[in-house]
Amino acid sequence: MDIILLGPPGAGKGTQAERLVAEHGMVQLSTGDMLREARKADSDLGRQVAAVMDSGALVSDDIVSALIDERLSRMDAGEGAIFDGYPRTLAQAQALDAILAARGREIDHVVELVVDEDALVERITGRFSCARCGAPYHDNFKQPKVAGTCDVCGAHEFVRRPDDNAETVRKRMAEYRAKTAPILPYYEAKGLIARVDGMGSPADVTAAIDAILGE
Ligand code: AP5
Ligand code: MG
Repeated sequence: MDIILLGPPGAGKGTQAERLVAEHGMVQLSTGDMLREARKADSDLGRQVAAVMDSGALVSDDIVSALIDERLSRMDAGEGAIFDGYPRTLAQAQALDAILAARGREIDHVVELVVDEDALVERITGRFSCARCGAPYHDNFKQPKVAGTCDVCGAHEFVRRPDDNAETVRKRMAEYRAKTAPILPYYEAKGLIARVDGMGSPADVTAAIDAILGE
């Protein structure tokens, strides 16, 4: 089964994708994570990607669709994909259909995480993670049990995403409203959209998604 998690920055796409991976052995395909990996390279492309991401704008459709195509080519036919943060434009939605069709696959569900945007700024600007193992934390909702020490691996270094400041978050939200929300009718017309209340606890949101996957 292949599904798309759709929602504005901070809606919980990554959180839910990780829970679904753990529960169902699906594979998370996050273009944000792939681009964060790509920007580490000391290359023109790496620097270009970094500049666009730090501004809160969208990276070009060709780059992200090529990343998804490459990653899908390494997956087994039986493994289900969770698209997290992709597609984000109508061109990407159409590219994804072609990429999947070429492999005899298709989208089964598009889960829209419905959230209150005002709450998202707090969610995003408080987020940080362990520099070594990536375990996620939050200033207000989930501090490490021992201050300054990762619960999972014991490391003492933490990192914040460079695009997680209030100004860039506002730009990312505007990009979502202008370019990503307009793809909802594309999937609506195919009868694929399922709406989930993204303001419940992470476990409640997962339960609602599970109910859709079980249909
Ligand atoms: P990307 O990395 O995809 O970021 P995003 O879409 O802005 O979303 P986030 O990762 O910030 O939020 P999320 O929905 O995953 O929420 P999370 O689970 O972390 O993209 C970054 C950039 O890369 C883009 O701006 C663009 O430049 C580029 N890019 C990526 N894909 C692209 C594409 N396809 N095309 C073009 N450019 C692309 O949760 C957020 C916080 O809330 C966490 O602290 C979490 O613990 C907490 N939380 C989660 N769920 C709950 C809950 N239910 N209750 C309380 N707290 C919760
Ligand atoms: Mg994410």
